[in-house]
Amino acid sequence: MLRTVTATRYVTPLREGGSLPGLVEADDLGMYVLKFHGAGQGRKALVAEVVVGELARRLGFRVPELVLVEVDPEMGKAEPDEEVQDLLYRSAGRNLGLDYLPGSLGFDPLALDPGPDLAARLMWLDALTLNVDRSWRNPNLLVWHGDVWLIDHGAALYFHHSWGGGPAKAATHGYDASDHVMLPFAGEFESVDRELTALVGPDLLAEVLCLVPDEWLADEPGFATPDDVRAAYAEYFTARLAAPRPWVRALEETRAARV
Ligand SMILES: Nc1ncnc2c1ncn2[C@@H]1O[C@H](COP(=O)(O)OP(=O)(O)OP(=O)(O)O)[C@@H](O)[C@H]1O
Ligand SMILES: [Mg+2]
Repeated sequence: MLRTVTATRYVTPLREGGSLPGLVEADDLGMYVLKFHGAGQGRKALVAEVVVGELARRLGFRVPELVLVEVDPEMGKAEPDEEVQDLLYRSAGRNLGLDYLPGSLGFDPLALDPGPDLAARLMWLDALTLNVDRSWRNPNLLVWHGDVWLIDHGAALYFHHSWGGGPAKAATHGYDASDHVMLPFAGEFESVDRELTALVGPDLLAEVLCLVPDEWLADEPGFATPDDVRAAYAEYFTARLAAPRPWVRALEETRAARV
């Protein structure tokens, strides 16, 4: 289970984020970056944050702790910005928080060389999860105490905005890595692919999917229960990871074309 905390103070909006995430203080005295279920992409973005963030953590990446955050909209009463007020009122109840990394800086490929292994692993993860938000313009990576931390997975798994073609079809989607911030650094994908594929089994997938609260999966058109939606995500990953994996070959080709 993810921990649950209650937001006690709305500190400030993080204006660089398109979804207007906010910085909040919680009843455990922690500070969290709050992702609101009432924001543009709604609860789907929160589902993607949990699934991809917790999968990444289990594959050895550094990801800030994810917590569930109870929000009482009255918290924003003193907030002068109407846009923030509205967002808080639309987001009553359970939202997602990321542990705030104080003093972290945005990843700058000119300032820090992540090394060929981390770079290849990260590209593999993003291609697996169809995360298009890791370009050099907007890498969604933070550097904290000299390490690279992954944030902002809300746009990944985009097929869940319309399940029409089904999870197996979604698993065939191509992934364009030509803009990926890690492309200039990445080493070969063969060993990374072998190692990471072996780690993502049915148990790990079930563990990660169980962390998504039922209420973010309920009343999904075409699905009877939250567990049916979880099964569809599991089917996506299983199909995507089944050999041969054309998206891994595509990563290798994109890398080769650049070197
Ligand atoms: N855990 C964290 N610790 C410190 N700063 C963070 C953290 N999470 C996010 N931020 C800061 O807030 C900004 C916005 O967060 P994030 O990228 O998750 O939001 P978004 O609305 O999804 O953004 P985008 O504009 O990329 O869609 C980040 O670029 C980063 O500067
Ligand atoms: Mg972002």
